[in-house]
Amino acid sequence: MSKILIKSGTLITASETFTADILIEGEKINMIGESISDDDAAMIDAKGKLIIPGGIDPHTHFDLPMFNTVTSDDHYTGHKAAAFGGTTTALDFVPYELSGFRKSVDLWHDRADSKACIDFSFHMNVTHFDHGVAKKLPQLIDMGITSLKVFTAYNERLRLQDGEIYQVLRIAKEHGFLTMVHAENGDIIEVLVNEALSAGNNSPIWHALTRPAWGAVESTLRACSWAAQTGAPVYIVHMNTAGEVDQLQYMRERGVPVMGETCPAYLFFTEDHLRRPDGAKWICSPPMRSVKDNQRLWDGLSQGIIQTLATDHCSFFFEGTKPILYENKQIAIPGKELGANDFTKIPNGLPGVGDRLPIMWTYGVRAGRLTPNQFVALTCTNPAKIFGLYPIKGTLAPGSDADIVIWDPEKKIKYGVAKAHHRTDYNLFENWELVGYPEKVFLRGNLIVDGDQWLGKPGMGKFIHRSPHALVI
Ligand code: URP
Ligand code: ZN
Ligand code: ZN
Repeated sequence: MSKILIKSGTLITASETFTADILIEGEKINMIGESISDDDAAMIDAKGKLIIPGGIDPHTHFDLPMFNTVTSDDHYTGHKAAAFGGTTTALDFVPYELSGFRKSVDLWHDRADSKACIDFSFHMNVTHFDHGVAKKLPQLIDMGITSLKVFTAYNERLRLQDGEIYQVLRIAKEHGFLTMVHAENGDIIEVLVNEALSAGNNSPIWHALTRPAWGAVESTLRACSWAAQTGAPVYIVHMNTAGEVDQLQYMRERGVPVMGETCPAYLFFTEDHLRRPDGAKWICSPPMRSVKDNQRLWDGLSQGIIQTLATDHCSFFFEGTKPILYENKQIAIPGKELGANDFTKIPNGLPGVGDRLPIMWTYGVRAGRLTPNQFVALTCTNPAKIFGLYPIKGTLAPGSDADIVIWDPEKKIKYGVAKAHHRTDYNLFENWELVGYPEKVFLRGNLIVDGDQWLGKPGMGKFIHRSPHALVI
């Protein structure tokens, strides 16, 4: 079995920072300690470098058909971009097909398995509910899928009614699923969107103006109250408003099993970005909010009210009629221009899977908003615990998968679309100055990123079959 010895790096886990050597044997971390020697091992000198566990992004949408197009990153290009940004595991959402759970999941395996180049797992969208669905939900456990997503918005498309979500949660409690909730008020959005369109208000800012923050706040409160009533854990996805943080804090202080995630975009941008001529670049659901919301979300992260930092990576081109060069091929995929005259037709979603760690290191850790250990907890260890991957993933420990990032804390980069590896034509963090960047990335002991060099291969990422009853933290 091949061996690699990483010498003298500064290891950062969710709870500790210390200098040590790491011996990798095959796909696993074999030993961590001082002055390890092994004549058979290839040696890497990591003095002056940081060593962190490979990032886990619990929220991505690769190769997802929507808005009369498809997200521009598939399970190869998205995974490659993730790896360059230090992420070695991604959890993607399976859309529900009326043909049933097994067919839906098979379809997603068909799209993902041969392309995957980091490890991956699936959540299941539960967007239809009846007696048959209730009976068949537990089948997902056999498929290794132990987390569900439900929506209180997207009327007539993805939304379930409150009573239906309540029933999903009772099943989740019985079988050990974690239920993820997209919290917005679908009815109010429907009224406001219809009014905006009738009044001829078509520009991107109306996307934010028709999806009020209060809808997210009260839907979060409702979802948390269902967790309290059923005893089933709930995880609020893409938290974007101060009020959601307040609700989560209130419920957690009362022992209700609720957790939450936010994404970098909600920490740095506001609805004013949607007023720009290129405002469509920032359109996603839920929308960007205000500076006060940004601040409360940062507090939520640093105070442990919010448990994870995901991306909700759901990339589209800004100008999908103009090709970009991707791996020596001209690629153009219809994108945000589809809604040039109508904000409701702008594909919702942002690129971000590769941005997450580099951006959060410079503007979270170096800016003094998060400690290095909180950074690892939020981007890696907590997602692993919450989604049943820990301790195989999510930490640096003997026996864990050797998913390892050697991080150069001094590397200076001007970031942007040319540096990120997403298959799209823009990046939200264009020209942002970064200090600190991944240097080498290992997936189960395989070096897949070495500086600017891509060594990953489609198909090398493994599907992770997860077990139910994961931790509530
Ligand atoms: O705009 C976004 N985020 N699209 C993805 C779908 C979702 O609700 O996460
Ligand atoms: Zn959502
Ligand atoms: Zn999403």
